[in-house]
Amino acid sequence: MQAVRIGLLGLGTVGGGTLNVLLRNAREIARRAGRDIVISHAAARDYNPDALNGLEQIGQLGDDPFAVVQDPAPDIIVELIGGLSPAKELVLEAIDRGKHVVTANKALIALHGNEIFAAAQDKGVMVAFEAAVAGGIPIIKTLREGLAANRIHWIAGIINGTSNYILSAMRTRNMDFADALGEAQALGYAEADPELDIGGGDAAHKLTILGAIAFGIPLQHDRTWVEGITDIDGQDVRYADDLGYHVKHLGIARRRKDGIEMRVHPALVPKSRLLANVEGVMNAVVVVGDALGPTLYYGAGAGSEPTASAVVADVVDVTRVLTADPGNRVPHLAFQPDAMTATPVLERSATHSACYLRMQAENRSGMLGSIACILGEAGISIRAVQQKEMDRDIVPLVILTQAVEEGQMDQAISAIEALAGIRGRVVRLRVEPLE
Ligand code: HSE
Repeated sequence: MQAVRIGLLGLGTVGGGTLNVLLRNAREIARRAGRDIVISHAAARDYNPDALNGLEQIGQLGDDPFAVVQDPAPDIIVELIGGLSPAKELVLEAIDRGKHVVTANKALIALHGNEIFAAAQDKGVMVAFEAAVAGGIPIIKTLREGLAANRIHWIAGIINGTSNYILSAMRTRNMDFADALGEAQALGYAEADPELDIGGGDAAHKLTILGAIAFGIPLQHDRTWVEGITDIDGQDVRYADDLGYHVKHLGIARRRKDGIEMRVHPALVPKSRLLANVEGVMNAVVVVGDALGPTLYYGAGAGSEPTASAVVADVVDVTRVLTADPGNRVPHLAFQPDAMTATPVLERSATHSACYLRMQAENRSGMLGSIACILGEAGISIRAVQQKEMDRDIVPLVILTQAVEEGQMDQAISAIEALAGIRGRVVRLRVEPLE
């Protein structure tokens, strides 16, 4: 059978890894796909030819990605340049020309996936995006196919390797934020714009995709509530540790009676949970379904060959069903396009979490009473209180609360910050028992 021809866009970290894996494992991959897979045309602007083996095996190599998409030869366009533009134009043009697409571009799928999938549906082509979420972990395939029998209750994941690397280094090596970020960048884990990692944007892209696939709702990136790790203070990492928690950056998608919670933020996770012990750049996703119960998927969430592993798996999947009737393929977002629901994504103020609060308070009688009074009047139950120093004029107070609606907690925090004996802002982190 004729080889399947790939048009490869990008030879950076993931593109280079994809080239390596496709060439090194060519025989094993062909045995699985049923056909050889060759890169007939590639385009890349910034790449290091000395760091790449096998460039001579690429049929044609240039610097214009549109030339690759417009070349009639490639059957599958593999988009690994990232960013929104020109990636979106390239993908839409490839689809328009009847080519299948494999992409690792989470921003593109999260923000423009609805439009891209509609165009692909129209043209009867596939758009595969396993590498867009959690690097090499096959979480898209798992949710779309392996868990297809389940009604999904919730998903919680460590889905940004760079943030996890930084939080792990702050806790285990007492490193400061900037040094840990520098290390993650040097190791090739961080996005070109690391603000996407530490600001939570990258995890929000990934969670948007996971939530849509888990619950059969359209992609709604603008409804995902996002907090990054930039404000995490080493002292909170230590206090959390003392209380039996690790601070992790989580993406959570949870079905509630009145809608779906979609949120990305740092959280205290009990040390006894497997997720709390996922360290470094590793990612992990817990999925809880009604039939199977909880399952955990763990692996490298970033890096050259781990991400290439997911890209190449998509290429193999697409190759296997190239000639299948489009109506019999796995739907892009797991549910048939006409079976999506309009279940609302809840506003942040309507979501529920237990909280860790830290405040700087004057060390005098009645202070704790005033704070407890505010929380009590707001209907917020306290689980634990710790004063971290004894003999200073201003002391850190740490309070753990039971689960509470965010909106209620917003008001209570404003009232606490307005107390005469409170200095500065109240630090709030969510506590996620993951039960
Ligand atoms: N910058 C991402 C991360 C890479 O740190 O997880 C993979 O999306």
